[in-house]
Amino acid sequence: MSSPLLTPYAGPHLSLPNRIVMAPMTRGRADDATGVPHPLTGTYYAQRATAGLIVTEGLWPHVLGKGGPGIPGLVTDAHVAGWREVTGAVHAAGGTIFAQLWHVGRMTHPLNLPGRATPRAPSAVRIEGEPIYTGQGDVEHVTPRAMTTAEAEATIADFAAAARNAIRAGFDGVEVHGANGYLVQQFLAENTNRRTDRFGGSRTGRLRFAVDVVEAVAAEVGPERVGLRISPHNPENEIAEEDPEGTYRTLVDTLDRLGLAYLHVIERGAYGALADLRPRWSGTLIGNFNGPHPTSQKAGEVVVAAGLADVFSFGRHFIANPDLPHRFATGAPLATHVPSLVYGGDAEGYTDYPAALVPQPTT
Ligand SMILES: Cc1cc2nc3c(=O)[nH]c(=O)nc-3n(C[C@H](O)[C@H](O)[C@H](O)COP(=O)(O)O)c2cc1C
Repeated sequence: MSSPLLTPYAGPHLSLPNRIVMAPMTRGRADDATGVPHPLTGTYYAQRATAGLIVTEGLWPHVLGKGGPGIPGLVTDAHVAGWREVTGAVHAAGGTIFAQLWHVGRMTHPLNLPGRATPRAPSAVRIEGEPIYTGQGDVEHVTPRAMTTAEAEATIADFAAAARNAIRAGFDGVEVHGANGYLVQQFLAENTNRRTDRFGGSRTGRLRFAVDVVEAVAAEVGPERVGLRISPHNPENEIAEEDPEGTYRTLVDTLDRLGLAYLHVIERGAYGALADLRPRWSGTLIGNFNGPHPTSQKAGEVVVAAGLADVFSFGRHFIANPDLPHRFATGAPLATHVPSLVYGGDAEGYTDYPAALVPQPTT
């Protein structure tokens, strides 16, 4: 039987040649002072353009949303010019590419921010555990400053402006990063949102920032060009959700009416987010597993064959296998990436992983 991942997908707003998405992956190679993407970024994504859809690494919509060294932005004209090169290269190679919009909230450090600014978050709740990586190594987290209501509203407008920049840069759409314990999920989760204004205080209040961001971005570029990524019940980055069912069912019910490009659900742990949310989402659903090892082809096939997602995203396998769909189709062996070369640097560990040898017809 041929793999369900290799069949074309025709959804309400997305038509893809296969059901293999390249998941967003930070590579930390942008110019740290400006946030302009690395000159090889176009080559890197174009090499991976046989993915049905590429979602870029997270890009900051405001410099206070930058989480670490070498993370690119989508704010200035220079960013737009840099990303236009990337989208041009991907389109020339026949691919489709969405930009991920990523504000990290409290998951950064003054050493990562201009003027050693204090990180902004829904509430002044510090990360107690894991240190944070900065240009000067791993350091303890600082206590973030709670955004004022006006700052939360301005940040929503920053997402919309970045989405407009994405379209100017030639992207096919944008994905709002609402997962993995960053700003949007910090608003959703009870332990990181202790606000008493309209962005907190109740489930409706906790949901408001996510809903407002998606609505603002959709109003800016059209809902059919907007995806949202969520990771219900993901404890990463010290998130503790007391009521993930209530939170995410309500979020999905609210956003389903908008007619978005897709919902991207990271399944993690025992909660069963895909099974819970699939019946509530009428549009395209992208599945993803985030476990200790790179997700296997088989795991993605099982999810798509069961109808729990329409398409499936793979992260780590794409680092060392630029032609992942070809390898899935042919059974060509998968290469493993070099962990020390994932973040930062130049071509090594970035654009120098070769495609599998394709047998040439003999004449
Ligand atoms: C190096 C690396 C960087 C990542 N950066 C991002 C990111 O910028 N945005 C995001 O939403 N997820 C990010 N992720 C999570 C991946 O999108 C994906 O959910 C995870 O790797 C699980 O998929 P896999 O098992 O196929 O690797 C990153 C993962 C890795 C390994």
